[in-house]
Amino acid sequence: MKLIRSPLEMNKIISQAKRKNNIIGFVPTMGALHAGHLSLVKQAVKESDLTIVSIYVNPKQFGAGEDLKQYPRFVKKDIKLCRSLGVNFLFLPNDKAMYPQGYSTFVDVEGLSRKLCGAFRPGHFKGVSSIVAKLLNIVTPDILYLGQKDAQQAIIIKRLVQDLNFRVKVKVMPIVRAKDGLALSSRNVYLSKKERNDSLVLYKALLLAKSMFDNGQRNSTRIVARMKQLVSNKKPLKIDYISIVDPVSLENVKKINQDCLVAIAVKIGKIRLIDNIRLNNAN
Ligand code: PAJ
Repeated sequence: MKLIRSPLEMNKIISQAKRKNNIIGFVPTMGALHAGHLSLVKQAVKESDLTIVSIYVNPKQFGAGEDLKQYPRFVKKDIKLCRSLGVNFLFLPNDKAMYPQGYSTFVDVEGLSRKLCGAFRPGHFKGVSSIVAKLLNIVTPDILYLGQKDAQQAIIIKRLVQDLNFRVKVKVMPIVRAKDGLALSSRNVYLSKKERNDSLVLYKALLLAKSMFDNGQRNSTRIVARMKQLVSNKKPLKIDYISIVDPVSLENVKKINQDCLVAIAVKIGKIRLIDNIRLNNAN
């Protein structure tokens, strides 16, 4: 596995590889890799001739007062993990390489970026969209691997890829959870024992939604009300939102006649956790 820090060098290497008709798989991350990230990497290694992983904690997607400085960084461990999984190139740019002086271009997927998490994290998805657009231009992958854990992010990036004519296939991989159901997240390392225990209610609320749906409930207001009741019992938790939405437009769904996404975001102290589940009429 080769470590690459320069965007230009990364781009040149991929251009050469593409001339030999190699399929390029790409997994963008912010590091502190866990089994969720690794499931994406494994899939990429399986399906591609060359797998590229990027690790870059993108400052432009963190708002003022968010955890940019404290964001977990375990680069040495990440390098070992990527090497052991058969990654070919690990792209590790720094801020100067990604945002040189005078940098002023941003991509904003309007509408979708203002909904759900966007309403609580102004500018976040603009930062995500911009860095992903840059990474796609640098790496020019054939397949981009994303996680369903960040469902809104995946929906926005799919829109971006379509709108800006990126020639890349987007694959969204299922959420990897701890044994007790908590969705794996780099930010889980911040949770105290008590907070971690309290946070299990996110998945419980999603399972409640699924069981109501499986038992025939199609009224989303009723489902959301029961979920809110369950989460409110855990006192230190503050609900940002619990919503049932269309998985493409992110518009609220009143009567569940089509596939939809149940999404939840809560704050535990300063830590913000998100999770989601799909409700599928075919199931
Ligand atoms: P990061 O939070 O490091 O996540 C990188 C990828 O791993 C994302 O596609 C995310 O959805 C996926 N992922 C995280 N936890 C997961 C889990 N438990 N199961 C399955 N997949 C999981 O998302 C970002 O970084 C950044 O916003 C990025 C796209 C890299 C742009 O900076």
